[in-house]
Amino acid sequence: MEYFTASDIPAILEYTKDFYFLDNNEFSMIEKNNISFFDENLNKISKKHKTIDLSNSSSTKNGYEDFMLKEIFEQPKAITNTVNRYILLNEKCYFSGFNLPNDILLNVKEIYIVACGTAMHAGLASKNTIEKLCKIPTYVEIASEFRYRNPIINKNTLCIFISQSGETADTICALKLAKENGCTTIAITNVIGSSITREADFSFYTYAGPEIAVASTKAYICQITLIYCFTIYLAQVLKSTDFNVLKDLKKELLDLPKKIVSVLEKKETIKNIAKHCHLEKNLFFIGRGIDYATCLEGSLKLKEISYIHSEAYAAGELKHGPIALIENGIYVVGILTDPMLASKTISNLQEVITRGAKTFVISNQKLSNNTFDFVFNIPNTSTFLSPIVSVIPLQLFAYYISKEKGLDVDKPRNLAKSVTVE
Ligand code: G6P
Repeated sequence: MEYFTASDIPAILEYTKDFYFLDNNEFSMIEKNNISFFDENLNKISKKHKTIDLSNSSSTKNGYEDFMLKEIFEQPKAITNTVNRYILLNEKCYFSGFNLPNDILLNVKEIYIVACGTAMHAGLASKNTIEKLCKIPTYVEIASEFRYRNPIINKNTLCIFISQSGETADTICALKLAKENGCTTIAITNVIGSSITREADFSFYTYAGPEIAVASTKAYICQITLIYCFTIYLAQVLKSTDFNVLKDLKKELLDLPKKIVSVLEKKETIKNIAKHCHLEKNLFFIGRGIDYATCLEGSLKLKEISYIHSEAYAAGELKHGPIALIENGIYVVGILTDPMLASKTISNLQEVITRGAKTFVISNQKLSNNTFDFVFNIPNTSTFLSPIVSVIPLQLFAYYISKEKGLDVDKPRNLAKSVTVE
């Protein structure tokens, strides 16, 4: 008999699939051939082990150079696994697994999405979709801000807390605050049994599989996917959007993995673009509407693993200051997926080109290659779902820049995968 201790499941998945989970203020003592558990007063308590249904390949690189690259390529499967848990493949636009009573949903007056880092960006990428389909005002907040600002929330507020690890201290404290104020709380997490699930009224899991690289990729797109499934479900309960629109979105969700595969197949194109940019000191990401959220995430990925300073700006804000920073040769990445806003962002890109910037545009629209230095086409999707596809080239972009610079992609300096302190 052997026993191991670890702060995360994948660390010891190679040796066992049977786990005991310690709650706050609990202790365990490992002796030769025995393990015992105690509460905070050192009274002996009994615990049952849980068998974790994960393959060891989740915690190995499986032939890939890095975990991050492996996780980027696992995204089509991760989406399929997540969608299949929540969508029932019948004619009716029906979702399973959202066990919130309808009387709670029918009384929701506003929604708060609270999270940190990439998980917060998943909230931003979902805000417009929730508002458009459910007609409920939706606010996205950084957990470390929300918890200290006495937000005006009450029993009619639905608070959704997103956390890949389910262990982020600020997010858990923000959740406790929401509960104290009588809100209904939902945790969205990738880790079954994580701390956040023990605090929330309801927990929905993403099925991305263990994410090892510090920079989140597959968990991010699964968080957005799951929120979209929930949004469609909520819109159906509220009858706030035409049933056929919801049904089409459901079909589109099921089609996403194929579209992501087609983007991943063009990884060499992104690798070549990254070769042009890896020596840059500053970069800009611009987009409007839902694309602005993707810009924030693309910029964060780049900062995290390449240590290049970058700014993400709502394209219309450029003229209010940041355009002063545009000088000859600086790279501006533009995201263009919303046909209603495309011409506006194109004109902002033209403004930076006039000032000498080089441009890299990611779009599902037909664009002229003569206007921009690099154009990367992505498959068309409903604007609601586009962040799930448009972020993929940005993940690859950050990854290949980091590789060009010879950096440790999986373990960037000064960062941790789970931040369990304030
Ligand atoms: C850390 C990680 C980020 C992550 C953030 C939130 O800062 O380095 O990649 O987005 O925590 O983590 P969570 O587990 O709550 O999603």
